[in-house]
Amino acid sequence: MKKIVVFASGSGSNFQAIVEQLHPKRCEVALLVCDKDGAYCLERAKHFEIPTFLFNPKDYLSKTEFEEVICEKLSQIEPDLIVLAGYMRIIGKTLLDAYEGKIVNIHPALLPAFPGRDGITDALNYGVKVMGVTVHYVDAGIDTGKIIDQLSFKRSDEETKEEIINRIHALEHELYPKVIARLLKV
Ligand code: GAR
Repeated sequence: MKKIVVFASGSGSNFQAIVEQLHPKRCEVALLVCDKDGAYCLERAKHFEIPTFLFNPKDYLSKTEFEEVICEKLSQIEPDLIVLAGYMRIIGKTLLDAYEGKIVNIHPALLPAFPGRDGITDALNYGVKVMGVTVHYVDAGIDTGKIIDQLSFKRSDEETKEEIINRIHALEHELYPKVIARLLKV
């Protein structure tokens, strides 16, 4: 059985979509790694009985130090893929060196446009009419890794920001589990 580990910092709706669509029939979601105490993704993990590793970056002297601890956890699992789902931290050299080519991320914009923390707001402020989501490999940059897949839609001027955010999340929940299954060949 192929294994994945999901990293999240917030609500975890993508984490839930991945669990619901893949776990445990097609692959095992072996662990949720979270850097934010109280994040709702932890509740979702509890509900689905997925083990969690919660850490506070402030407890460590550097990114290298906490990534070494994460690597130690991961070495007990030997995941086939590391799936970033709203993990709002740049992956450092320690994790990248250990899992090169095996870390993927989802971003709520059509990369290479609108990378960074708030791609949806940036795209709306720019006034784009076609919006979408991107799944890509993770490299040392911010949302710069090789694109794996994208989905897009044309927005109407009547749609509110909230409606657009919901549409983007729905696309993410459709795309991400499919891409993960394809990469794992399950
Ligand atoms: C998702 O929309 C994801 O694309 C975005 O965070 C959200 C997490 O939602 N990620 C980024 O912006 C990364 N640059 P979720 O916690 O409900 O899955």
